[in-house]
Amino acid sequence: MTVTDRPTDLRVNGARLMDRIMSLAEVGSIEGGGCARLALTDADRDGRDLVVSWMRDLGLDITVDAVGNVVGTWNTGAGAAIMTGSHIDTVRTGGKYDGNLGVLAGLEIIQTIQESGWTPSCPLAVAFFTNEEGARFAPDMMGSLAFVGGLGVEEVLGTVGIDGARVGDELLRIGYAGSTPCPSSPPRAFVELHIEQGPVLEQQGVTIGAVTGVQGISWREVTINGQSNHAGTTPMGMRHDPAYVAAAVAVFMRQLATRYGGNQVCTVGKIDLHPNLVNVVPASAVLTLDVRNTHEGLLRKAESEIDEYLARLADEEGVSVSVRTLARFEPVEFDGTVISLVESTASRLGLSCMRLPSGAGHDAQMLARVCPTGMVFVQSHRGISHNPAEHTDERDLVAGCDVLLQVLVSLVTGEES
Ligand code: GLV
Ligand code: MN
Ligand code: MN
Repeated sequence: MTVTDRPTDLRVNGARLMDRIMSLAEVGSIEGGGCARLALTDADRDGRDLVVSWMRDLGLDITVDAVGNVVGTWNTGAGAAIMTGSHIDTVRTGGKYDGNLGVLAGLEIIQTIQESGWTPSCPLAVAFFTNEEGARFAPDMMGSLAFVGGLGVEEVLGTVGIDGARVGDELLRIGYAGSTPCPSSPPRAFVELHIEQGPVLEQQGVTIGAVTGVQGISWREVTINGQSNHAGTTPMGMRHDPAYVAAAVAVFMRQLATRYGGNQVCTVGKIDLHPNLVNVVPASAVLTLDVRNTHEGLLRKAESEIDEYLARLADEEGVSVSVRTLARFEPVEFDGTVISLVESTASRLGLSCMRLPSGAGHDAQMLARVCPTGMVFVQSHRGISHNPAEHTDERDLVAGCDVLLQVLVSLVTGEES
């Protein structure tokens, strides 16, 4: 990278960004090119250790807070930092880019600026937040929610995961129960680079997404208790079958999403039957309901339709149903100035750009509670994510990182692109 006093000319080192992405992807690697680094597991610890070692190499001040959020700050000036970042935990069948891109882009950007000889007038920080995925411990975006004061530290530490582990114990076990106070003081602004995880940018042939906000998320766990019995001898009219109710709810959710249209989505991602045997009417079923919409009113309507259907079905089948909320976040709108800045920056760099909402949850939606926030999206090949086959072309990864670099530069200098 040539030394320059014109930060608007800076571009990241794409090869170095790719090297870090591929090295981190080796931690917890799984067949098919993906990663399994569920939050606070040994694999997550190893990923954290690697990223922290890179933060150290860049001379960043590193803090770890009480819920394990890690922030690396290049302390170049006074005042609150301009922050970027994302998460490095993954679902059990995760890809290489979800979250990781945003964190490693932050490191690459700081290194690029450091090498340029230009010194920002305020600190630049890159963060990775604990348990964004929520696949082991609910809710998702747990670390960033605590970071902004939306969830108490004690509540986080006491959360029990799908395997019975406690967040507080796991943080201690992997060495990431830090002492920096949580919630944190707000950054001056937060911008996150992420893969789209959906098909829109690719279908439209557009390189950069200026993300307008994040749709509302409702996660619930439904427990259905019925009467376990012999599969061969129990007449159909005498059954109290939790598996039937679980399956009917899954079908109802699909039909509801089709009926609502727009960006309504519904997913049953997990069903556990007990005792889960070929010739036994199950005693119980536990399933998860993931329901999302950009419109809060429609999301509420969907939730109550599902509740009414469940109650009616439980009555008809003679089973008991209980529902537990795992996560509930209203739709979030990002800062208008940051959205425009992403657009104008992409245009200055000669990259096509469109506005779009995010279907996935992101740490940025929590940071939006305390500071001007936005996101930059890049394409996801065939819209595939939460899958080892997740792929984004190097050209797009680097383009997104260059846009983020220039957005951060503009936020530091106060000059619009
Ligand atoms: C988080 O990745 C989500 O489920 O949107
Ligand atoms: Mn993510
Ligand atoms: Mn994810």
